[in-house]
Amino acid sequence: MSTRPIKTVFSGMQPTSGVTLGNYLGAMRNFVKLQHEAKCYFCVVDLHALTIPKDPAELRQNTLDMARTYVAAGIDPKVATIFVQSHVPAHAEMSWLMEVSSYYGELQRMTQFKDKAAKAEVVTTGLFTYPALMAADILLYDTTHVPVGDDQKQHLELTRDIAVRLNNRFGRELLVVPEPYIPPREAGGRIMSLQEPTQKMSKSDTNELGTIYLMDPPDVIRKKIKRAVTDPGREVRYDPENKPGVSNLMVILSLCSGMSLEEISERYDGYGQFKKDVAEAVVAVLEPLQKRFKELSEPGVIEEILARGAEEAEAVATPVLRRVQDALGLLPRRRP
Ligand code: TYM
Repeated sequence: MSTRPIKTVFSGMQPTSGVTLGNYLGAMRNFVKLQHEAKCYFCVVDLHALTIPKDPAELRQNTLDMARTYVAAGIDPKVATIFVQSHVPAHAEMSWLMEVSSYYGELQRMTQFKDKAAKAEVVTTGLFTYPALMAADILLYDTTHVPVGDDQKQHLELTRDIAVRLNNRFGRELLVVPEPYIPPREAGGRIMSLQEPTQKMSKSDTNELGTIYLMDPPDVIRKKIKRAVTDPGREVRYDPENKPGVSNLMVILSLCSGMSLEEISERYDGYGQFKKDVAEAVVAVLEPLQKRFKELSEPGVIEEILARGAEEAEAVATPVLRRVQDALGLLPRRRP
């Protein structure tokens, strides 16, 4: 993690049905923490979600639900700015400027693109240029730090490369070069599937038992953890190479209970009680979140938060967009 002072934080999550425990432990948890340390922007990236065609009504509902999840998880909309990406047109405009500042070969090397393209029924151009839009999101806020999970590392490197490239080209700090804020694996940077602990936990997992969703009822959480794949032997020891299943459950327990990995290792002899305690620790974190999520269903509450958020975000993003447009040589528009 970084040593530079944290001034401005930006991060985003795609509005898809089912936010996972991986999303929460890898990223959202840190959003909650960082909101008191820096000016924070948390975006619901609906334009990114469109890179794989979505049902329109579902996308709208998922967008609202993602924002509700942010608040239910503890992000205070009075402290941090929560908004929807498509509500601030500067994102789409800046995205084009990032597309023309990045290279085809760079985007071709993105492993997420390769993975997603291999699975998608249709590969849209947007799926390919996805990282340019992500760079736009981040650079529009003069972001110093980007809290994300480990899987976004390559996208952040590209964002930094684009910023450095433009700064070099114009011989000044046109754009702030952001730093990743990615927890190490033992602190949640990469939560693994409960069924295939060598793969990351993901909403696109076909095996339902592999992924815990934030809205899973307690009994479903208990069932999934009970059935989680463990490793031969009975030792509860952090060893991701040789004991990936147990190590993943240890990380989950550690983050949900506050116990260190060493304490966990010392406490258990065998998997039975260990798994029970993992399940109860996850339930204890998710139950209050689910309760707050339900309380936020009153019509208009989230919409109001998002309306204010878009205003706040736009006020920061538009001048940065103008700065980049100007540097690249676009003629400023004059109003008649
Ligand atoms: P998305 O919506 O796929 O995931 C949201 C966040 O969750 C993290 N994450 C995980 N962390 C740990 N373990 C896992 N198994 C796990 N699965 C997901 C992701 O790393 C991410 O932080 N491209 C982004 C959205 C985005 C964005 C941005 C992020 C768009 N613009 C600007 C930061 C800044 C994405 O698809 O995240």
